[in-house]
Amino acid sequence: MIVAVPKETTAGERRVALSPDIVKRLVGQALEVHVEHDAGLGASFSDEAYSSVGAKIIRDPEAVWREADVVLTVNRPTSDAASGRNEAALLREGAVVVGMLQPSTNPDLVRALERGKVTAFSLDALPRISRAQSMDALSSMSTIAGYKAVLLASAQLGKFFPMLITAAGTVAPAKVLVLGAGVAGLQAIATARRLGAVVSAFDVRPVVKEQVESLGAKFLVAEAVTEAEGEGGYAKELSEEQHQRELELIHSSIKDMDVVITTALIPGKPAPLLITEAMVKDMRPGSVIVDLASEMGGNCELTVKGETVERHAVTIMGPLNLPGGTPVHASQMYAKNMSAFLALVIKEGKLNLDFEDEVVSGTCITHGGRVVHEATRQTLEEAKVHG
Ligand code: NAI
Repeated sequence: MIVAVPKETTAGERRVALSPDIVKRLVGQALEVHVEHDAGLGASFSDEAYSSVGAKIIRDPEAVWREADVVLTVNRPTSDAASGRNEAALLREGAVVVGMLQPSTNPDLVRALERGKVTAFSLDALPRISRAQSMDALSSMSTIAGYKAVLLASAQLGKFFPMLITAAGTVAPAKVLVLGAGVAGLQAIATARRLGAVVSAFDVRPVVKEQVESLGAKFLVAEAVTEAEGEGGYAKELSEEQHQRELELIHSSIKDMDVVITTALIPGKPAPLLITEAMVKDMRPGSVIVDLASEMGGNCELTVKGETVERHAVTIMGPLNLPGGTPVHASQMYAKNMSAFLALVIKEGKLNLDFEDEVVSGTCITHGGRVVHEATRQTLEEAKVHG
């Protein structure tokens, strides 16, 4: 069985789907691993590092896709109208592709994979259950994003994060508020604490209070927001009254903050609005907001996706693909997640799909010429009705 790793073609992407140590492991399992020339360059993995552990380096980018039984990617396959190159169309009938495909926002790709009778797995659809933790690429990437968000904020803020006692006087520590204490939020709290900031956090799931406090941050409590735990450990949408209470709490806290990091997410929904323009106006001049939810519309009303803007003397950052900015560890973590996933679907060199397994059925988007993922099928139907 040929497992192939193409060079990512999404603009600016420096991550790669497999690191050399994981290639070594797969080669040890009698899989033939093909790696496109310079696929690992952005993550500091040379062709030599891959070939020394048994990978074959492929110079023709199209051959990487065409010849493989299984193609492993970070981002979804791309197509380029100018050159006519369409990665999904290069896949053989019956081939497998595994990556973060974002099927709900890429209906054309899903249709192409369906037509091509490709078996496509999307790691961003992985159920967040204990058994699947080792495969949870979204959590790995969110860990990096939470860490990076704090570094961005600290570089932008015109102040120190830690308290300093110097001959020139005592400097008070920065005050950081983290909204949403899931994977990215908890890592942001931990990183801001390590830099010496005074940190508080809010989440609609009261169950995270203990985790927030164990990191040395204060957990803010909004009366009436007590029932927002949804399925699978994710949040559910708040009632209008609960949302108003939440906004009041955030408004009263935000006036005193130097940095706010927002990470609030409800799967499959636009990002909840947590910071209004009125709140930004009331913030201290020079303070910084880093909105990790900018891709899904942003938690702050004034966020511009992918940009840094200044509004009412506050810097508002809406960075995209922060994990891509830490490509070495992002690729290493992603490759480990990928390898754990492959162990589930490849047994003794053959594809082994058990659709009774919720990890397999939860991630498989297309198989045998059909869209088999219920949520994706619904999204495609809705797009057809509204389109
Ligand atoms: P997560 O699901 O682990 O955490 C989200 C948290 O938000 C949960 O704890 C949830 O209870 C909380 N939440 C939901 N609604 C809320 C509300 N109204 N008020 C307060 N808290 C609320 O998600 P994860 O993995 O930590 O990702 C967080 C965000 O970071 C997502 O929007 C994700 O897309 C984004 N992200 C951005 C990256 C970038 O480069 N910009 C990279 C990776 C993730």
